[in-house]
Amino acid sequence: MATAHIPAPVDLANAQFLSGVFAPQRTETTVDTLPVTGELPAGLRGSYLRNGPNPRFDPIGSFVYPIDGDGMVHEIGFDDGRVSYRNRFVRTPMVIAEEAAGHAIWSGITDGYTPSAAEAGPLAGTTRELPDINIVRHGGRLMAMAEADQPYLLDPAGLATLARTDCDGAMRVGSTAHPKIDPATGEMVLFNYTLEAPFLTWSTVDADGHATRTPTAVDGLTEPVMIHDMALTTSYIVLFVCPLIFDLEAAMTGGSLLSWRPDDGTRIALIPRDGSPVRWLHTDPFWVWHFANAFDNPDGTGVTVDYVEWTYPGGFADQPTPAASTLTRAVLHPDGTVSRSAVSDNAIDMEFPRVDDRLLTRDHRRIATVAKGPHDRDALDSLWFHDLAAGTEEFWSPGVAIGEPIFIPGVERDHWGAIGTDPTDMRSRFYLLAADDPSSGPVATVDLPIRVPAGLHGAWLPKPVAS
Ligand SMILES: [Fe+2]
Repeated sequence: MATAHIPAPVDLANAQFLSGVFAPQRTETTVDTLPVTGELPAGLRGSYLRNGPNPRFDPIGSFVYPIDGDGMVHEIGFDDGRVSYRNRFVRTPMVIAEEAAGHAIWSGITDGYTPSAAEAGPLAGTTRELPDINIVRHGGRLMAMAEADQPYLLDPAGLATLARTDCDGAMRVGSTAHPKIDPATGEMVLFNYTLEAPFLTWSTVDADGHATRTPTAVDGLTEPVMIHDMALTTSYIVLFVCPLIFDLEAAMTGGSLLSWRPDDGTRIALIPRDGSPVRWLHTDPFWVWHFANAFDNPDGTGVTVDYVEWTYPGGFADQPTPAASTLTRAVLHPDGTVSRSAVSDNAIDMEFPRVDDRLLTRDHRRIATVAKGPHDRDALDSLWFHDLAAGTEEFWSPGVAIGEPIFIPGVERDHWGAIGTDPTDMRSRFYLLAADDPSSGPVATVDLPIRVPAGLHGAWLPKPVAS
């Protein structure tokens, strides 16, 4: 009987990323006016949006953070002094079917289970779609982004899920959750990896949402690789091909699907945006989840890339020492050499590097990150602010679990915004820090009406100026 094969429930009591500040939020709510402590910046209008894994029902089979889980998008809206909140699940066909059943039908992505027709009807044999990583607005589309898959369109006026999209064909084979938008042209550039040849493609979408390059092979790969993020300059797409390889043969014989092969080193693809041949560079083995930004060097030779460099992908590879990360600058020289240097050695396990998105593809002075410490070296409880021109860094440590900082351009003053949850009382707040003095703490704090689970990536969407 098919039911004999339905996976057992995940042991919630021992699942770190399903409990505490990570516990899923099952309530959807809309609140028009929220209490604010401090003073909101004059004229602040727009929405802070954030996505993250949030399983609709208690998972069965397996749950691998941060890949598994359904998406939930949270919106904190600012309108000249009034702050509102809403949150909605990203309703994929799997979420809709599970809501009808009242329990989980699909398991995690690593255990290979797919439901039968008895459980899933016409969706039998499918795997769970995971548009739970990022939220991107471009070309008239608001998209909940997945890893190497097509995103879901959301209604910007209420966050209702509309439909899966291939972005006019640019995402025909899928997309990274981290496409980049060139602020100078409005063009969106993306890549996608696949398990079949050619393994890696790139595409472009113009500012109006039309595909201007459908998936185009990146020549040079002979096996499938996992690549999470990308960087973009005026001239190049920069892809770091770290040695995390999909090993399908091992997976079919009960081994790990992903294989860490440091002997391969890291390969860097410089893909000219004009379609010229790809250039490959080689350097030491390391792992990258996220880039801060990249830019063409001012003298016209090479590219500079800022990113968080991990010793290896912790959770996806076994090594004798814990994985460690460093905010790093790599200069890619025209002779093919790669120079790498640490930008910070104070923060621990930093991640989520962000810049002012208006500076993407161009030189930036400041990067914000999340990191552990300096007070609690086990919790991501500090925001760090790195000034690359001055060679200095400062931090703000609220003693709560804090999420990705997003740059919010202001009328008179710029800010960083982030959601945090106090693990002692599970209250969530939105913190607004002045970009020119972040370590002094928030200029305004918004009490959120429900707990927002620790999540992944967000975006600031300025409201269109009324004509
Ligand atoms: Fe990411």
